[in-house]
Parts: sequence; structure tokens; C-alpha cells
Amino acid sequence: MAIEHHDYDVLVLGSGGSGLRAAIAAAEAGAKTGLVCKSLLGKAHTVMAEGGLAASLGNVDPRDGWETHFQDTMFGGKYLNNWRMAELHAKEAPDRARELEHWGAVFDRTPDRRMSQRAFGGHTYKRLVHIGDRTGLEMIRTLQDKTVHSAVDVFMETTITRLIKDGERVVGCFGYRRPTGEQITFSAKALVLATGGSGRIYKITSNSQDCTGDGYALAYEAGAEMVDMEFVQFHPTGMVYPPGVAGLLVTEAVRGEGGILRNALGERFMEKYDPKRMELSTRDVVARSIYTEVKEGRGTPHGGAYLDVSHLDSDYVRRKLPSMYDQFLELAGVDITKEPMQVGPTCHYFMGGIKVDADTGATRVPGLFATGEASGGMNGANRLGGNSLGDLLVFGRRAGLGAAEAAGKAGSVSLPADELAAAQAEVDTFLNGSGTENPFQMHKELQTIMGDGVGIFRDREGLSEAIGKLEGLQSRVGNLRAPSNRLDYNPGWQLCREVRNMLTVSLMISRAALMREESRGGHSRLDFTAYSDYWSENNIVTHMHSDGEMVLTPTPVITRDELGALVEARKEAEKAS
Ligand code: FUM
Repeated sequence: MAIEHHDYDVLVLGSGGSGLRAAIAAAEAGAKTGLVCKSLLGKAHTVMAEGGLAASLGNVDPRDGWETHFQDTMFGGKYLNNWRMAELHAKEAPDRARELEHWGAVFDRTPDRRMSQRAFGGHTYKRLVHIGDRTGLEMIRTLQDKTVHSAVDVFMETTITRLIKDGERVVGCFGYRRPTGEQITFSAKALVLATGGSGRIYKITSNSQDCTGDGYALAYEAGAEMVDMEFVQFHPTGMVYPPGVAGLLVTEAVRGEGGILRNALGERFMEKYDPKRMELSTRDVVARSIYTEVKEGRGTPHGGAYLDVSHLDSDYVRRKLPSMYDQFLELAGVDITKEPMQVGPTCHYFMGGIKVDADTGATRVPGLFATGEASGGMNGANRLGGNSLGDLLVFGRRAGLGAAEAAGKAGSVSLPADELAAAQAEVDTFLNGSGTENPFQMHKELQTIMGDGVGIFRDREGLSEAIGKLEGLQSRVGNLRAPSNRLDYNPGWQLCREVRNMLTVSLMISRAALMREESRGGHSRLDFTAYSDYWSENNIVTHMHSDGEMVLTPTPVITRDELGALVEARKEAEKAS
């Protein structure tokens, strides 16, 4: 039977902010561009960056500038960031924010009608451009609008299960249409992975069902390197009640607007953990603090901390935090203008990801690019809130341009028959094979292993046990089979590949977490509680050996002489304070 096939210069996988921005850039550079998403256009984790986009416009505090934003990002990332990425991001985010406004994004205004900016954890000045607490949503709306007017072909509800290579080069991909199960292939002179993170490896997460680490696994299997996978961001504030919505994001904007955290004894506990920054400390610190309060018996009835804005003017709260107001009223029966919220940490973001060239988004695999949360390096050991929206605009554009340029230099490409046959066999096995493993059950087991052993606090024993259990799952993964063999909208079939992807990602995270014998940012070891000099200078890079084994290698941080003085000045200032 003939398979549906399409040819592109540039093909983008993923329709969150980074994917949309990459597709716009590639199309504007003249490349024939396609965009594939496994769900509906615009249904992306980007919308969960609610509180704002970090860009040093200086509209609210004129002291701000790219240098301070760069320093804050490095401080937040505990100096493991790729310096060039942090530099490009800090320099280019203001232009990307202004551009978005020209494309129709509506942001809150200052009294003199410039884009307003609010405070967020770890940012020295009020820096986050926002619209209430719906910033990611407004960005997606704007980028989506721009994309459909930019000659980009969009393939929705299309799952890609394998990248296709011709020798060393990625030349396209294989997948299927979710509504019909019909197979589909794409050839592409350059392919951009903008597939986001993998929050679904944890039970408590702000991520949607779609965030299953597909891009990480696809890139790894195609020969790309991964970096910083041990650093997982647990956002300090997710809903803890009712159980059906546990993990749903409570935006950092609540604290940015003056929200106060208290424990069950009424103590403002951040005084103990970061008296200088208090509720606006970096996310790693606030998440650990809440976790510790609960663990030590000072949690709320539903196992969280209280987050209170009832001291603020109620009209102001409804105007600046409209989604939070509705969310708590409708889901928990709590009027946040009168009563405190109950909140606790939720898996939100992956600092790690596919290792890329900062300027172009190129991976080490010819023809393969990555951007947004799918890529790693920009955020080091911990991301500052608001930096993801800036990141996806800056590096989405750069990856789109990088891919378009590479496509312009590539000759024609075609999909090797043996690669296609292998991809077809794999999806068919999940549907019609003789496997007996249920993907829903295996997913649950995986989430339990990750939650128990690879959560906010880790140690050698817990990590070793988790790795052993994950390896046990890996020995069973070849035996996965969808509970039903229907072709149309078969969630079990979909989950078979996703579970395989999540397992690969979980092994990367837990092995890197075992290797990094120190505590830093989003990686806290109970058995190595301090920074280590050695690990201050090394990232962990993961790749697949030709024999199929996962190899982890400590690799020096990518620094930049020109920026040394800025970094040293910040370190000195920290010591002095
Ligand atoms: O809390 C938030 O609004 C999330 C923002 C982010 O992750 O950047």
C-alpha cells in the first residue's frame, strides 16, 4: 500500500513556542517548511509559562540590561550554563519580545504605555513582560497566527516514531496519523526537534500528556549527544488538592506579585532558607524549602505549603492573576483573594536536553537541529522562571535559520528502504505483535520508580535502586503491545513508543544523577550536599555507543573569555552579600 509522503527543505517537529518560531524563521528564509505535531496546533507546554517572558527591556527599571540578565541566568544555572547560549539569550530576548508585539501579542502596559515587566525569582530587576498570568498562551496565539500566514504546512495529530538516516545524515522521519493510524513519511534536508520536555516521567507534573521526551529519545537514537540530563526542575508551586489536579501549575507570578509562603504553623519559612530573596529565591531553593517543611511535619492538611495573596487588593489580584483566581475557585473551591492556596513542588521543566551549537541549534548529527526545552545548555543546573519563553523565541529563530541554511547547502535527499522497513516493523509490533506488557501499567511503574528514587532529593542508594528497576523495565520494553489493535486514535499504541522514550530519558537522568556527586541547582544529593570543585567545571554529556550502550562523559563547561569578567564580578558580589 502506498504511504503518504511529503518533501521539505526544513521539517520542524513540535508546535510549542520554539517549534512555531523555528518554522516561521525557516519559511521566512525561503525554505519549504513543514511542521508536525502529535496533538493539535498550539497545544503545548509553552502555555504553562504563565507569568512572563524575561527580557531586559528596562521599561520598569531602567537599570536593567543584557549584562545583568546574563549574570542572573548564570547565577541561576549555578554556572554550568553554556555561556554563549546565556549571552545570546540575554542580548536578543528584548528584540524578540518587541517583534512578538509587532506580530500582535498584547501585553500589560506601564502607565506610559510600554510593555510592563514584573518581578520573578532570581531576576535582579522587574524583567518579565506579561499579560496577567496568561503570557505563554498569548505567545502561542500570536506565533500560531504568524505561522499559518507564513507558508508553513502543518500536520496535526501526527506521531513521529523514528528519524530516518542516510549514512550519518538525518534525511527525514517516519510516523503515523493518529486519527486513522495511516503511516506517513517525510523527507527533509534539515530537521528541527522542538519537542519539549518529558514531565510525564513523573506522576506529579505541570506537563500535559504529550510531554513524553520523544525528541530526546529520537535524537539520542540518531546519534546526538545529550547534556545536563540530571537537572530536572521541580516548580515550587503546583496544586496539591484536589487529587485529580495535583501538579497543575500555580504560576510564579503569584509570588512575583507579592504572594507569601507560610507553613502550617504560620511561619514565613523562606526566612530560614533564603532571607535575602525570600519567596523570590530561585526555583530549586524554594522547591526544596517547601519539600523540607512538609517532610518535617509542618505541611498543610493536603501536604503542601500555604501561598497567600489575600493581603493584596482583591481587584488587583483578579486583574494580574485571573487564571489563578478561576483555577482555584473552580477546581478547589478556594477564593484566593480571601484564603490561602495550598501548593507543593511539581515537575515542570528539563534543564538538560540535546546538545546544540549555540548560534545555529545544530546537533552533532548532520541535518539534525534542536531548540527550546528539547535542547540543553542554556539553563545549566537550574532555569530562572521566564527564561524559557525568551529561550524559545531566541533559539527557535536561530534553529530555524540554521536549518534553512543547512538545507540550502544540502543536495537532494531520499529515505533508505531498510530504515523505513525497520520503522514500520516497530510500530507494527506494538500493534500486532505477540507482546504481553501493558504500556499503561509500565508507565505507572516508571513514574513510581522516578518519584521514589529520582525526585527532588537523591542519594546513591535510591538512585542505584531506581537504575536497577529501570533496567528491569528496559528488559521488558520489547514486549510492549497495545491493549487494542484498532488503528484510529489508539492511545495504547501511542503510549508504547512514548513509554520506550520515557524509559530512555529516565535512564539518562538517573545515571547522570548518580555520576554527579555533589548538590547543585535542580540536583540535590543527600549524600553529597555541597558543591564540588570538579563538578563546578563539568557538564555530563550522554550519547549512545555504537554497541547500543549509554555512555556518560564529564565534559568541560563551554565558557567564553569575553564574558569572564561579568561572571567573576557576579561571583564576587555573591560572596560579599
Ligand atoms: O510560573 C510560571 O509562570 C512559569 C514560568 C516559567 O516556567 O518560565
